[in-house]
Amino acid sequence: MNDDIINRARKYIAPALVFHTEIVAKSSNGIYVEDIGGKVYMDFSAGLATANAGHCPSEVTEAAKAQMDKLIHSGCIFYYESEVNLAEKLARITPEGIEMFFFSNSGAEAVEGAVKLARYATGRQGIIAFTGSFHGRTMGALSLTASSSKYRKNYHSLLPSVYHAPYPYCYRCHMGQSRIDCKTECFDYLERILRYQISPQEVACIIIEPVLGEGGYIVPPADFMVKLRDLCTKEGILLIADEVQSGFGRTGKWFAIEHCGIAPDIMTMAKGIASGFPLSAVGARKDIMSKWAPGAHGTTFGGNPVSCAAACATIDKIEKESLLDNAINVGLYAINRLRTIAENHTAIGDVRGLGLMIGVELIKPDGSPDKELLERVMKRCLENGLIIIECGIDKNIARIMPPLTTTESEMKKALDIFEEALVD
Ligand SMILES: Cc1ncc(COP(=O)(O)O)c(C=O)c1O
Repeated sequence: MNDDIINRARKYIAPALVFHTEIVAKSSNGIYVEDIGGKVYMDFSAGLATANAGHCPSEVTEAAKAQMDKLIHSGCIFYYESEVNLAEKLARITPEGIEMFFFSNSGAEAVEGAVKLARYATGRQGIIAFTGSFHGRTMGALSLTASSSKYRKNYHSLLPSVYHAPYPYCYRCHMGQSRIDCKTECFDYLERILRYQISPQEVACIIIEPVLGEGGYIVPPADFMVKLRDLCTKEGILLIADEVQSGFGRTGKWFAIEHCGIAPDIMTMAKGIASGFPLSAVGARKDIMSKWAPGAHGTTFGGNPVSCAAACATIDKIEKESLLDNAINVGLYAINRLRTIAENHTAIGDVRGLGLMIGVELIKPDGSPDKELLERVMKRCLENGLIIIECGIDKNIARIMPPLTTTESEMKKALDIFEEALVD
């Protein structure tokens, strides 16, 4: 049965789309996914960082069903309450100053919207992004994405006036520094772009993932983020936080940028927003959003009524069940346990993360990335009922990103499986 569906998928679904496992899912609930043969897995990928409130939470499915019985679609022909309810909730939980929203369907679409808004509101063209970043695969978003040249291959020319500065990756510093002698040379590099390549007065925005996702689950030093905020404020450049992966409680705060004590001017959200219903949003300060003239951007499906109802129920569940606190507590337990495991496994080069956005970097004895080991570990985990996926340019970093509902005992069980899988 598994093979039959996979064979049919291979015949009819574009090969460009890569599935991370060969599981054919029948159903999912909480942190668990059951395949059509009845095998149950703990999903520590959370459906690609999306099932933050767990798979198919009953509060969310009930809200969606109730909405479906009333109104499925608007196409911007009429107003409807679930979208307004959601915007009000977002205004409450997003960083200070973020007050107005544009809803769309996917993360990439939100990134497109954010960059269009920045250009429109500032009248400037330049965009600065970071190496290692993943912002999506539509042509505009892809121009910012620099987590692998593979994603960009055969698609040039991309959007012009996009510049990339090195993301602060302290474990493997792009600038050849170590944590001890770090003088944030990566920030100096960014400033050099503004001196040598494009003047700050021509830069519309700087877009950054407050915790790098696909590029390696990397937490930037808070002082780097503060410097970035100060630079943007000084030069009139809009700071865009791409919170598509790091948002909705993934790091133990509603949004990862809060860990640095700063607020963006514009932000993007998707993934965990609606427990898997397609929805994304651009949020911005009112003075910025108010400059976006009627018709300057638009959508048919964005802000779908059912997705918005699901998003409201998702936010309510995260609040009601204190899932941010749970992400902090279970995340801390996981990091401590992984660091203890690392004491006996030299193949673990680095354990890092915030909340339940944790990266475990596997290395060879000479310190170079060990992709093959991670492949073996992920395979063994899967055999033992645990879904783990990878990230990073060298695909040697395990992402520990389960639903925020994961309990400490479930985390313990998963890390027992992970530790056992490390033994060669
Ligand atoms: C930070 C970030 N931005 C944007 C995207 C693109 O989102 P989507 O795949 O929904 O277009 C992703 C997807 O992984 C992401 O992690």
